[in-house]
Amino acid sequence: MKTRITEIFGIEHPIMQGGMHYVGFAELAAAVSNAGGIGTITGLTQKTPADLANEIARCKKLTDKPFAVNLTFLPIVNAPDYPGYVKAIIEGGVKVVETAGRNPESVMPYLKKAGIKVIHKCTSVRHALKAQAIGCDAVSIDGFECGGHPGEDDIPNMILIPRAVEELEIPILASGGMADARSLVASLALGAEGINMGTRFMATQEAPIHDNVKQAILNATELDTRLVMRPLRNTERVMNNAAVQRLLQKEEKLGKNIRFEDVIDEVAGVYPKIMMEGNMEVGAWSCGMVAGLIHDIPTCKELIDRIMEESHNLITKRLNGLV
Ligand SMILES: Cc1cc2nc3c(=O)[nH]c(=O)nc-3n(C[C@H](O)[C@H](O)[C@H](O)COP(=O)(O)O)c2cc1C
Repeated sequence: MKTRITEIFGIEHPIMQGGMHYVGFAELAAAVSNAGGIGTITGLTQKTPADLANEIARCKKLTDKPFAVNLTFLPIVNAPDYPGYVKAIIEGGVKVVETAGRNPESVMPYLKKAGIKVIHKCTSVRHALKAQAIGCDAVSIDGFECGGHPGEDDIPNMILIPRAVEELEIPILASGGMADARSLVASLALGAEGINMGTRFMATQEAPIHDNVKQAILNATELDTRLVMRPLRNTERVMNNAAVQRLLQKEEKLGKNIRFEDVIDEVAGVYPKIMMEGNMEVGAWSCGMVAGLIHDIPTCKELIDRIMEESHNLITKRLNGLV
């Protein structure tokens, strides 16, 4: 399948694996890229720019296909060494960067000068327009359904994607709630030129995370996620568990007076314990509503091949048969 996304990234199928904290390591990124999509190493999961440089080198040993690095611009005072991470990306010869969080204007000149394609992940039409204005090559738009940070507007993809298509000229990846061929074909119908998936890629053979996390996704339904940190205007969609219930009780009790320090036990530093050790009740971890559509743990190649084959059948048989 050819879209502007496959052309810009130089890939076979219009399917991206979005950056995921403590999930997006070289093994997963390479597996997705080897399967014809584009995988992503999560930059900030690597503690230093030197660690990121090693992870990029490791990924290059596992694939000769293009892969991306995610750079998430966090709303915190003590910012990570972003210039150092950018240097590691450029010197590592990475071809695609997925930016997220705040707008990436400050790093754009460096990335563009190095010939790197930039896809900015955002959650609203206005942020997508800003990304286009500062020279991003594409945007990945996370709807309200998504795992992770859906923003504060709460617009689901059925509205958000066509609204973005109405306004933008650069190509769009539909992100959030994507799992299978139905997701891809529906996204194409809405005007997107491919899909970005997070939660679905966690439940794959190559995702280098504890099996407990994969089983939790399989066991979950679409009713099992919760929104946390909304009063802090840092909303995150997470899998419900005991820690999330504790966090939500604090939010209810403290109301508008809540500060980040009040929820730190449930959200800070918990990812290694969950993703690596499989300690599932220790804190809040991002997960999309799409968990309800995930029923198996295929390899990335099996997953992507299945999406592409079923998309072909959906378009040429089911949809074609309707007209
Ligand atoms: C466990 C997990 C961790 C994530 N970490 C990040 C991150 O560090 N940076 C980022 O830009 N997006 C992050 N995301 C968002 C994903 O890249 C992607 O946009 C989102 O998962 C899409 O929604 P879906 O889960 O419904 O597919 C994360 C998502 C999950 C599920």
